[in-house]
Amino acid sequence: MTILTKSFEIFCGTGGVGKTTLATSRALSQASSGLRVLLITIDPAKRLKDLLKLTGDSVGEVTPVEVSNIKLDALLMSPEKTIQRMALKYHTPDLASNRIVKILSRPYGGMNEILSLVEVQMQFDSGKYDVIVLDTPPGAHFLDFLEGIGKIQSFFDQSFVELFTYLGSKTVNAGKKFGFGIINRVISGGLRKLLGYLQKVTDAKFIEDFIIAVQIIYKSKEAFLKGLSLQERLKSKSECNWFLVTSVEQGKAQEALEMKQHAKSFMHQDHFLVLNKCLEQEMSDWNPVDVKLQAIKTSLDSREKELKIILKQSFPVVLEFPEIMSLEPIEHVINLTHKWKTYVI
Ligand SMILES: Nc1ncnc2c1ncn2[C@@H]1O[C@H](COP(=O)(O)OP(=O)(O)OP(=O)(O)O)[C@@H](O)[C@H]1O
Ligand SMILES: [Mg+2]
Repeated sequence: MTILTKSFEIFCGTGGVGKTTLATSRALSQASSGLRVLLITIDPAKRLKDLLKLTGDSVGEVTPVEVSNIKLDALLMSPEKTIQRMALKYHTPDLASNRIVKILSRPYGGMNEILSLVEVQMQFDSGKYDVIVLDTPPGAHFLDFLEGIGKIQSFFDQSFVELFTYLGSKTVNAGKKFGFGIINRVISGGLRKLLGYLQKVTDAKFIEDFIIAVQIIYKSKEAFLKGLSLQERLKSKSECNWFLVTSVEQGKAQEALEMKQHAKSFMHQDHFLVLNKCLEQEMSDWNPVDVKLQAIKTSLDSREKELKIILKQSFPVVLEFPEIMSLEPIEHVINLTHKWKTYVI
């Protein structure tokens, strides 16, 4: 089995199946073949940080790391740092200083997904990397976002922005004298509800800042739209490898099948199912004398075999990775790095 190297590789799957471990080992394996690799984690759990022993300063910064004499760059996504880089790259300093943009770009602030895409695109544009490996948060939320990009595009719809520009100039010029009368006269529907809510819970200054924030974001629309264009590349067979990770633990394979179903409109057909923590191979030379242990072995063996049969019916390629008998997460990564080599000729 040969896995062709593509510009992007995405690791997705449900919670705790080994996405971060396998993405890291894949990135190391690629780097050991001489490729220039950037490993990005957009998982706010920051597991990669512990794994690679990165310091707090490295959050949001591209950081060179070395594991077992293999060198690569790693980046723990920080929406705030991405905003700062965008402001520099696209000469829009207001983007980094506006307080509403700051709130939106906090972790869980609502802009994580789009900023992740913008970040990946900016790193790709730097020309420094042959491959960017992406470790995603558990579940399908990030993947849903890839599908729903059209909705975000409408955010930049000219009429919406014109409305905000108009409201912004009125509010800023007229100040509190006009209060919210202008806003109420001009807008309707959802926007009025939103501003009404903001009016109740905040102050006039907040609304002004909000309007200014929308204008600032609009000024940076080139950066956002470029980030969004990444969606097409991630969907394309020639540019992206998709690894849907699952493990032999109870219920995980079913979750992987559901996730495949969920992601089928944007995950191309040539994706890989990665079955992690397999025991079959590890147990092959274990012949317990004790009957109870023998029964456990037989039951684990048959459960795993059945699982593989089911998965092979549903996925074009199933890559098997063994359970590593160590307590150290970095040992799991190092051992699995070698395993990737067996899938490349
Ligand atoms: N093949 C393996 N053998 C043994 N332990 C493993 C293996 N793969 C992963 N692990 C361990 O399982 C735990 C979960 O792994 P990991 O953090 O990579 O999963 P994840 O899918 O990224 O989790 P999350 O959904 O929380 O992001 C870690 O302790 C990791 O070291
Ligand atoms: Mg993870």
